[in-house]
Amino acid sequence: MKHFRPLLAVLPLPALLLLAATRSVQPAAQTPKQPAPVSYTRQILPLFEKQCNVCHSGSAPASGYAMTTREALLKGGRHGVAIVPGKSNEGTFVKYLTGELKPKMPPGGALDLDTINLIRRWINEGAKFDSPTGGRPGAGGGKIVPAAPAAVNGAAQQPAPVTALAYSPDGKRLAAGGYRVVRLLDAQTGQVVRKLSGPVDQVQAVAWSSDGKRLAVAGGAAGLEGEVLVYDTLTWLPLRKLAEHYEVVYALAWKPNTHELATGSFDKTARVWDADTGKVVKVLKTTPDAVMGVAYSPDGKMLATASLDRSAKLIDTTTWKRLAALTAHQDGLTRVAFNHDGTLLATAGTDKTVRLWKVEIGKMENPLRTHNAGDTITACAFSNGGGDNSLFVYGSADTVVRAFNGDATQHRRDLRDGKDWVYSVALSPDSRTIAAGTHDGKVLFWNAADEMKLVRAVSLLPGGGAKVEIATSKEAGK
Ligand code: HEC
Repeated sequence: MKHFRPLLAVLPLPALLLLAATRSVQPAAQTPKQPAPVSYTRQILPLFEKQCNVCHSGSAPASGYAMTTREALLKGGRHGVAIVPGKSNEGTFVKYLTGELKPKMPPGGALDLDTINLIRRWINEGAKFDSPTGGRPGAGGGKIVPAAPAAVNGAAQQPAPVTALAYSPDGKRLAAGGYRVVRLLDAQTGQVVRKLSGPVDQVQAVAWSSDGKRLAVAGGAAGLEGEVLVYDTLTWLPLRKLAEHYEVVYALAWKPNTHELATGSFDKTARVWDADTGKVVKVLKTTPDAVMGVAYSPDGKMLATASLDRSAKLIDTTTWKRLAALTAHQDGLTRVAFNHDGTLLATAGTDKTVRLWKVEIGKMENPLRTHNAGDTITACAFSNGGGDNSLFVYGSADTVVRAFNGDATQHRRDLRDGKDWVYSVALSPDSRTIAAGTHDGKVLFWNAADEMKLVRAVSLLPGGGAKVEIATSKEAGK
């Protein structure tokens, strides 16, 4: 089970939405006088949903094996081709069910022989999806694909998690990443002022260039492709699609005062791009596992990467040499961030800890401080400047956003609406507002200057609108 990723527990969504899409479809017409062909929708999919998809779906499926589109289901993960249509004896799939390949699937249980035979028959009949879309809607093929309206892909009923948040440098807009869409919220009122087509599946990261002229949006389809869209914020037209990653892109960072963009992907690489030309400046293969976080030092001289291999690396952006490897975490890393003057680095992980490091090349064996949460840390952020108002915040799947002073020495407050996993956090450039995105599709705003009261909860509706609720004093600032 060494590939099992606790992070799965917090990133399981796009696939579920896709399943909702395939389920509403009519079963295939049946040929008379022959045993009815096995119906994927009615007989196979419910089984997968119940027994497999808790691990084999979402943005970081076990063993890199997503079972949620036909393409991915056939293709397999780390162990090669899973299903060869028409040939149930080939591929790894049935072998994992029978135990011929170990560990037997599902781990800790087993399917009975009748069920395995039903799956074999379905494979021998061609492993067909009896759905007109055959899985993932709207594959890209290099073109920029407009996001399918939620009503079309069947996801209309479920709000998508808010997996990414970023304030524009002027503080007027908050970009919120959802399922195939980025909403721009008015930072004051929480109203949606614009919707942008996101990449395929769940948006995993959003980032504004420091001049505010570009917005980058990252995502991709597990096991298939990574995608980054770069928008011109004057016209709101997509300028570039950066599509060289072959797995989901989880992380974005703009090199300060440039249009150079760093990306981190489940394909185990970080890349640096000239976002205006779309050219790759550098491919970094510094980790043996997925790169979930990237961050530039404020002077742009260093790039930090955070990987599921449990380490963070500091890389010189001129020579591309590794300056430091930080290895204190006990499990995979999810995020990395520099503070405003580049003297501190925060690393966050699935080991439920945030570690703060003094940035001192050659002397970074141990972190300065370690903070804990009750679950995977999904996001962390420092405020823009130092001083009394400076802040450090991190969000966790335990539903809490924890706020500290800027060097994380003093705990300020635990912020919660307590209802669902926190996926993303952002601090407004003036450090007056803390925003958090949750699994149940909300953006929560706390007033950081005041007593850290919850001032606004915005539900991002699947149709594209938003329901803004002003917090009452009762629920504020617990
Ligand atoms: C609790 C999590 C979990 C569940 C549930 C689960 N799997 Fe897995 N699966 C894994 C892990 C972890 C691996 C990687 C095993 C290894 O090689 O170390 C894996 C690997 C596989 C592979 C090999 C993929 C590849 O190429 O790497 C197949 C096929 C597979 N599982 C099928 C299934 C099926 C079918 C089900 C449901 C009947 C299922 N799994 C349920 C965790 C799970």
